[in-house]
Amino acid sequence: MKPIHVGLLGVGTVGSGTYTVLKRNQQEITRRTGRNIIIRMIADLDQEKARALVAGDDVVVTSDALEIARHPDIDIIVELIGGQAIAKQAILEAITHGKHVITANKALLANHGNEIFAAAQQRNVIVAFEAAVAGGIPIIKALREGLAANRIEWIAGIINGTSNFILSEMRVKGLDFSTVLASAQQLGYAEADPTYDIEGIDAAHKITIMAALAFGIPVRFDQTYIEGITKLANDDIRYAEELGYRIKLLGITKRTTNGIELRVHPALIPVKRLIANVEGVMNAIIVKGDAVGPTLYYGAGAGAEPTASAVIADLVDVTRLLTSSPEHRVPVLAFLPELLSDTPIIPM
Ligand code: HSE
Repeated sequence: MKPIHVGLLGVGTVGSGTYTVLKRNQQEITRRTGRNIIIRMIADLDQEKARALVAGDDVVVTSDALEIARHPDIDIIVELIGGQAIAKQAILEAITHGKHVITANKALLANHGNEIFAAAQQRNVIVAFEAAVAGGIPIIKALREGLAANRIEWIAGIINGTSNFILSEMRVKGLDFSTVLASAQQLGYAEADPTYDIEGIDAAHKITIMAALAFGIPVRFDQTYIEGITKLANDDIRYAEELGYRIKLLGITKRTTNGIELRVHPALIPVKRLIANVEGVMNAIIVKGDAVGPTLYYGAGAGAEPTASAVIADLVDVTRLLTSSPEHRVPVLAFLPELLSDTPIIPM
């Protein structure tokens, strides 16, 4: 069956991770979709870096994201450029040309999501954004699919890996704020402008996207209360600990009789609560549904491969949708022939 051709925009931390994981797990992924997903074109201003990434592979490298967005051979674009100007232009261009879009760009969706989703609906194309919220945790799928039966009552979580990493390292190692922020940047956790992380803006982007999904409201970033972690000192963290609390930056959205609350701020959480013990770059989100009750999602909230995992999950989803005529339906259990005979089952 004809492979799915993907255009990758941006080979920074997440873009490179996506290329690497897709290539490494190609066989597994094809088994799950019944169809090969191939990155045919890459756009990045740093063409040397892009060429080094794809060395030996049959991939066209360009500096022009729009060329890919309108290229007739491309079925899906994966926007990992970040920022808002070019990214938005490329996404809208791709939609106009009938291409499906996958993006990790929470800032763009929080600020222009309403316009982008409306354009996609008009052209009947998919805009998928699992990687925009909480890195590798499949929280968008949980909200859209797993919890689809529920009236969501509230969502609360640690949804910025960088600020959680900073708070953890300050508490556990007694390091100062700017030293830990520098390591978060070095590890590829922080945004290009780390103010977004430490001032709570990135968490606000994510909570507004989740609120839109959970409550069926437009994306209302402009209505979100935002307070970051920059005013916290090592002493605050230590005193909180002495009183039996841990400070965490939380994103919270709640349905109330007066409307929907949208807020991001540091909170004191009793040390015995699970979420108080989420450390480092990990994220954790609690979603309370009326039928299921509280559910908890935990995993790496940032970093190259965890975020790539979410991007590729969207690629798999879109590929399945594009392949969903009955004769092309992939069995739920599709076996790799070479594993059928040789794989021993270890008795427990
Ligand atoms: N800068 C973000 C974070 C990246 O630290 O959570 C993942 O969205």
